[in-house]
Amino acid sequence: MSSLSGALTEIVARVFGELGLPAEYGRVTISNRPDLGQFQCNGALAAAKAAKQNPRVIAEQVMAKLQSLPQLRDISLAGPGFINLSLSDAALSEYANKMAADARLSVTRRRPEMVVLDYGGANIAKAMHVGHLRAAIIGDALRRIFGFAGDETVGDVHMGDWGLQMGMLISEIEIRQPHLPYFDRGFKGPYPNHSPVTVTELEEIYPTANAACKADPARMERARQATAELQQGRPGYRALWQHFFDISVEVLKRDYGALGVHFDLWKGEAHVDPLIGPMVEKMKGMGLAEEDQGALIVRVAQPDDKKEIPPLILVKRDGAAMYSTTDLATIVDRVHEQNPDLILYIVDQRQHLHFEQVFRAAVMAGLNGKAKMEHLGFGTMNGPDGKPFKTREGGVMRLQDLIAMMTGAALDRLKEQGLASDYEEAERQEIARKVGLAALKFADLSNHRVANYVFDLDRFVRFEGKTGPYLLYAAVRIKSILRKAEAQGDRVGKPGAILPPEPGERDLILALGALPDAIQAAYDERAPNKIADYAYGLAQTFSTYYNQFHILSEQNEALRRSRLELAALTLRALELSLSLLGIKVPERM
Ligand code: ARG
Repeated sequence: MSSLSGALTEIVARVFGELGLPAEYGRVTISNRPDLGQFQCNGALAAAKAAKQNPRVIAEQVMAKLQSLPQLRDISLAGPGFINLSLSDAALSEYANKMAADARLSVTRRRPEMVVLDYGGANIAKAMHVGHLRAAIIGDALRRIFGFAGDETVGDVHMGDWGLQMGMLISEIEIRQPHLPYFDRGFKGPYPNHSPVTVTELEEIYPTANAACKADPARMERARQATAELQQGRPGYRALWQHFFDISVEVLKRDYGALGVHFDLWKGEAHVDPLIGPMVEKMKGMGLAEEDQGALIVRVAQPDDKKEIPPLILVKRDGAAMYSTTDLATIVDRVHEQNPDLILYIVDQRQHLHFEQVFRAAVMAGLNGKAKMEHLGFGTMNGPDGKPFKTREGGVMRLQDLIAMMTGAALDRLKEQGLASDYEEAERQEIARKVGLAALKFADLSNHRVANYVFDLDRFVRFEGKTGPYLLYAAVRIKSILRKAEAQGDRVGKPGAILPPEPGERDLILALGALPDAIQAAYDERAPNKIADYAYGLAQTFSTYYNQFHILSEQNEALRRSRLELAALTLRALELSLSLLGIKVPERM
């Protein structure tokens, strides 16, 4: 089973086929003129063009065949050959009952593919910034969407742990604490079990080292040298690096965890270091990697390029691996480990050229196995000044602080609305945390990922408008209705209880029947905002419905049961949509 428009497409496509016309012209979509019909099919125009016939004549032939179907009512012709159709009320209730009986809410499962998603990218020792936050929110949503659609998914955090920032850190610590065993070339080990620095110290050391390197070429050279020696395997540096890695992962796990973002793999760039040597040899052997002023480069430009695509630098003059090199080796690793059909990179749009170069080089060298590779770029979250979001002091906002800020704002709003006021403190805090996270995630995911948007805390935590809190409230309100129903002896979950809708009720079933379309669109376009839009529309439709129809107080038992089933189905569609966005709904507010 699929969406309502999908079910109708099957019917109309069959009719096109019977008339000897290509079935793909039978596509039915939700009408953009609901006053004329619930759905429309514009295929007669295209079919007529192909067959060199009058579109109205074709449309009439199609309509004549549709006329006899009991599922349909109000079939009409408009303009040059548009067909408007509406479903009978019996067909609507039949659909809703089937949807209610299906654990997957009529969303068909696709033939599974293996999909690796790369949406972490936080860098060791550098504080996570809002770009990493967006990657995490969007990537985690895509992982959930692909997984629900039926794919096998693997989320990889792919930490930045192998670049120049490592050499900057190591050389800075060497300057500050030269006597540590990590710097003694004659040291026979074993190295200490505990890191000589904490994560908090690293977060201070890195900016200091970075500034010093920028200001002084000799200092920068020292950092470069340390990076190269680290990558070549100098034992003391490796041991120190391992400390950085371990203490950073611990903090990152906590931070991503607080955000409700999950990764299956905690690998980083360094993990693929052993694969770089053989890969570079292979690319040299193929004649793809060429020597250029002491560096090794891969020319990835193609004759029909619209803009210049510079060569990819595989190995720098000093022997150090580059960002592109580790990304290429990571493809080798993924092909070896997961053999994916698809690799999705959820990374800042500004890295588009980087991925273009990497993908081209991977294909040229045949590194990607059967995997298609896609860069799913995203825009920036900006402050009110239109520049990437910073704290009031001008620094990067720590994730922890951001979450605390969202929770605090959510608490204020709950208080204003008189919500959760008489609950225990612990539950109120838990609700506020959920509301705050929903506000943050929904604000992000309701934009198309490539769009920039402005961080507007006040608007994000509002309970009115297209916000996370509004949707949580809508879901919680239905939960409360269902609890009351249960208390008065009305249990939901009875098969076939949904009656043919009254006119004002049709919109709700139509909205429910569009759930599979929204998930499909989000999947096809890699665009979680399709689900965010859907959830918002459904919540609004339910709200209108609830204002118009009595549910709990309806005296007629069959009607009451039917409406309760619709409410319960709406809740399931809402909760599924929100869960695909990584948003959790509290039991009550
Ligand atoms: N660490 C990188 C950064 O902070 C992001 C990594 C994204 N993933 C990748 N496979 N390149 O910019």
